[in-house]
Amino acid sequence: MRNLKEQNWNGTPTPFYYYDLDLLKQTLETASTEAAKYGYHIHYALKANSNEPILKLIQQYGLGADCVSGNEIKQALANGFEASQVVFAGVGKSDAEIKIALNADIFCFNCESVQELEVLNELAQQHNQTARIALRINPNVNANTHKYITTGLEENKFGINTWELPEVLNLLKQLPNLELIGIHFHIGSQITDLQVFEQLCVRVNEIQQGFRDQGYHLKHLNVGGGLGVDYYEPESNAIPDFAAYFAIFNRLLQVQPGQVVHYELGRALVAQCGTLVSRVLYIKKGQKKNFAILDAGMTELIRPMLYQAYHKIENLSSHLPEQTYDVVGPICESSDCFAQNVPLPETHRHDVMAIRTAGAYAEVMASNYNLREKAVAIYSSN
Ligand code: LLP
Repeated sequence: MRNLKEQNWNGTPTPFYYYDLDLLKQTLETASTEAAKYGYHIHYALKANSNEPILKLIQQYGLGADCVSGNEIKQALANGFEASQVVFAGVGKSDAEIKIALNADIFCFNCESVQELEVLNELAQQHNQTARIALRINPNVNANTHKYITTGLEENKFGINTWELPEVLNLLKQLPNLELIGIHFHIGSQITDLQVFEQLCVRVNEIQQGFRDQGYHLKHLNVGGGLGVDYYEPESNAIPDFAAYFAIFNRLLQVQPGQVVHYELGRALVAQCGTLVSRVLYIKKGQKKNFAILDAGMTELIRPMLYQAYHKIENLSSHLPEQTYDVVGPICESSDCFAQNVPLPETHRHDVMAIRTAGAYAEVMASNYNLREKAVAIYSSN
């Protein structure tokens, strides 16, 4: 299949999300081969992208599903994931969502608070079931990433703090419809400083030791996701370094005999395979700079506006000498700007623009603000 740049997009309405499924396959192949070296299980975090063709492909590589809502659980099951491969995470699971998960008899609930445990026990009792649970523990490790996507610090809302564990373990003894099968950690997203995962391993080892000292043998150890991607070189560096990532855990994590290690990767699997394709509506000369006004905006990709995230922008139509532009969207907000002072070949109305690395946390975070139409998805191969 020809790639994005080689195709003629004349007549194709914009904006749209373009997904390169060949690249997705290569990424999945690499990730699963590297994980298999150590017998690690990867669950795909649906929150990064839950489109059907993407899920169907991921499922074929034998990955499990990490879901954070009742609808994500339904979407995973509808696209071929077995209930026995589904984990349900999230700090605010509603009763209705818990019932969906109980009805499906999913593999495991990752629980984040004392009250959640009590509610889950009660609902499981009503269903005459025993729910398998892992305790999500906040390890207080700094992920060294944007503060909005840091989750493993005590000041964050996620997980049970280690000082709460004695109370939680006591409580569990009184909750007969819960079966503790493991512990779970997730410290943040877009982590590019791999040393952070070394610190995570050290904390996980300490915490596991605490459990062992009290006679607990936990069959499952889930260390979450968070491996970052290279937003700056999306083509030359399209597949994250899964080998280096898993090697850290293999080197440092103390795994007990018979224990199964799980990962929950989202972005690292799907980010690079997606591009937001847009056309230039207008070029507007400002007093100090030129604006390239696109037909895509924060409604299709909010990451630059929400996290000041960098996404590489390319003009696929022009080969003229470069000028500098602020690349903005059509939404009635000054924050609707993809990037400022971007050097681009001289750009004109109707030029086709590619905003790279938009496979993760782009389409799933779209909104219809300003009553915008939902942008369609186009896939490179099936
Ligand atoms: N597991 C848990 C419990 C999570 O909260 C997340 C992501 C993941 C796994 C997957 O993390 P990943 O491997 O994709 O980093 N919207 C933000 C990212 C939010 C991530 C939320 N949690 C962004 O666009 O950067």
